[in-house]
Amino acid sequence: MSESLSIAVLVGSLRAASFSRMVFNTAVAVAPDGATLTEHPWHDLPLFNQDIEDAGYPLVVEQLRTTISSADGLLIITPEYNGGVPGGVKNAIDWLSRVMGNSAISSQKIGVIGISPGGKAAASVRDQLQLMMTFISGGVHETSLGIGGIADKAADGAVTDETTIDELTAWMASFASFLGES
Ligand SMILES: Cc1cc2nc3c(=O)[nH]c(=O)nc-3n(C[C@H](O)[C@H](O)[C@H](O)COP(=O)(O)O)c2cc1C
Repeated sequence: MSESLSIAVLVGSLRAASFSRMVFNTAVAVAPDGATLTEHPWHDLPLFNQDIEDAGYPLVVEQLRTTISSADGLLIITPEYNGGVPGGVKNAIDWLSRVMGNSAISSQKIGVIGISPGGKAAASVRDQLQLMMTFISGGVHETSLGIGGIADKAADGAVTDETTIDELTAWMASFASFLGES
């Protein structure tokens, strides 16, 4: 890939030793040439409130919407919380999805990576995000990437398991191709 591609990323955990962030770090390293991944923080977003929206988006919301709508794609790398989307990520999506007809992601293409310590590889949150994004985005990469047993596959800030690195490399290439399709 020679074309440049900017990929905005939401990482679904604030934990200092987050496995999701280790996957993000490795995704940055194995992304195809020309693809740049930039994490956008969501921890300081207010909880979605239509009264705040009606009064005008706060600066942090404007920044989130501008950064993500101007990227070539949005990648969500997240754990599953209680079978679903972590609240902070859902809150960011809710801000991005507004307002009907002028959403910040209505033409944005989306990819999803889920991680879990167990063997189910965050299948539930991946399915939920894929479905949710089908309704509010410009298209969802057909195949999400699930990484189960993450505690044995990542350490010290990065993915260490060779097979998983290969899978992540291949998935990033397929996501970049998806973003490049018109
Ligand atoms: C509130 C909460 C709910 C969780 N629910 C699930 C779950 O439904 N499925 C699952 O596979 N793991 C679940 N976990 C475990 C997380 O997948 C695990 O803590 C993971 O390492 C969190 O991601 P991180 O390492 O990026 O912080 C849950 C963890 C928390 C804190």
